[in-house]
Amino acid sequence: MLVGKRSLVGRIFTLLVFLQGALIVTGGAVRVTGSGLGCPTWPECTPGSYTPVPNQAEGQLHAWIEFGNRLLTFVLLITALAVFIISLRITKTATAKNRVRILAILQTLGILGQGLLGGITVLTDLHPLPVAGHLILSIFLVSGAISLRYEVVGLQPEKVAGLIRFLLPIYIWLTLSVVVIGTVVTGSGPHAGDEKAQRFGIDSRVISWLHADFVIALLILTAIMYLIAKQNGSKIIEKRIGIFLLIALGQGSIGYIQYLTGLPELLVAAHLLGATLVWGAAWSLIKVADSGYRLHRLTS
Ligand code: HEM
Repeated sequence: MLVGKRSLVGRIFTLLVFLQGALIVTGGAVRVTGSGLGCPTWPECTPGSYTPVPNQAEGQLHAWIEFGNRLLTFVLLITALAVFIISLRITKTATAKNRVRILAILQTLGILGQGLLGGITVLTDLHPLPVAGHLILSIFLVSGAISLRYEVVGLQPEKVAGLIRFLLPIYIWLTLSVVVIGTVVTGSGPHAGDEKAQRFGIDSRVISWLHADFVIALLILTAIMYLIAKQNGSKIIEKRIGIFLLIALGQGSIGYIQYLTGLPELLVAAHLLGATLVWGAAWSLIKVADSGYRLHRLTS
C-alpha cells in the first residue's frame, strides 16, 4: 500500500473513480433530456462563445445541461492531472512505478479523448456511433481508475483456482458484451439526444431482446460462480460475486421495466447508473480475484 485509503491522496484516487462514473450518468442526462445539441458547436458552446449565452436558440435549460457535462469533463481533466502528478511523487522509489504511472497518464489521455469524441458527437449531429463510443471509452476509464486506486491504496486479494479461474475471463467479456450491445439498443431507440439525430436503423425490439438474452446468460454464469465460490470457501470472492449479483438483478429489473413502459427518461437514467455500477462491481471482482500483481512490491 502506498497511501492510506482515508488519506487525502487516497481520497483523490477514489474521487477519480467516482467522477469517471459520474460522467456516464451526466452524459445520459444530456441524452434523455434531449440536450445533446444544447451547445450546437464545439469547442465553443455557441458560435462566438465558449459558454451558453442569454436567449440562445436551443433554450437555456438544454444549453446549460450540455454545458454542465462539458464542465464535468474539465473537472475530470484537472483531477486526472492531479492524480498523475501525485503518482509521479509517490512512486519515486517503487519498483513497479511504471504500471502506476502508465495507468495515471492513460486517465488523462482518456479524458482528452472523451473531449475530442464529444466534439465529434456534436459535429456529426449526435451520430449513434460516437455516442456509443463515448460510453464504451468511459467504461474503460472507470476500469483504469479502479485499477489505479487499488494499486495505490491496496486491496485484499483472494487466490482463485480451478473452474472459477477459468470462468472469470468469460464473465468479464460477457459483462462487456452486455454493455456494448446496450449501446446499440440505445442507438436504435428513441433517446437520441436530439430530434434530428440519426439512428442505427436496427429493429430496437430485436436488439433489446439480444441485450436481455446476454444479461440472462450473465446472471446464470454469475450464479454458478457464486455456488462454486461458496463450495470452495472463498469468502471474499463469494461476497464480491454476491454484491455483483444483487446489482445486476436490480439493473436487469430496471431494464425490463423501462422496456415494457416505453422508456421513461428517469428509468433510462437509472439504467445508466445501474450499468456503471454493474461494470464497476465486475471489474473490482476481477481485480480482487486476479491478484497477479502485489502492492508490497511497489514499496520494496
Ligand atoms: C446486467 C444488466 C444490464 C446492463 C449492465 C445493461 C446495460 C446497458 C447499457 C450500458 C445500455 C446503454 C446505455 C447508453 O448507451 O446510454 C443499455 C441500454 C438499454 N438496456 Fe440495458 N442493461 C442490462 C439489462 C437490461 C435488460 C434485462 C433489459 C430488458 C430488455 C435492458 C434494456 C435496455 C434498453 C431498452 C436500453 C436502451 C435505453 C435507451 O433507449 O436509452 N437492459 N443497457
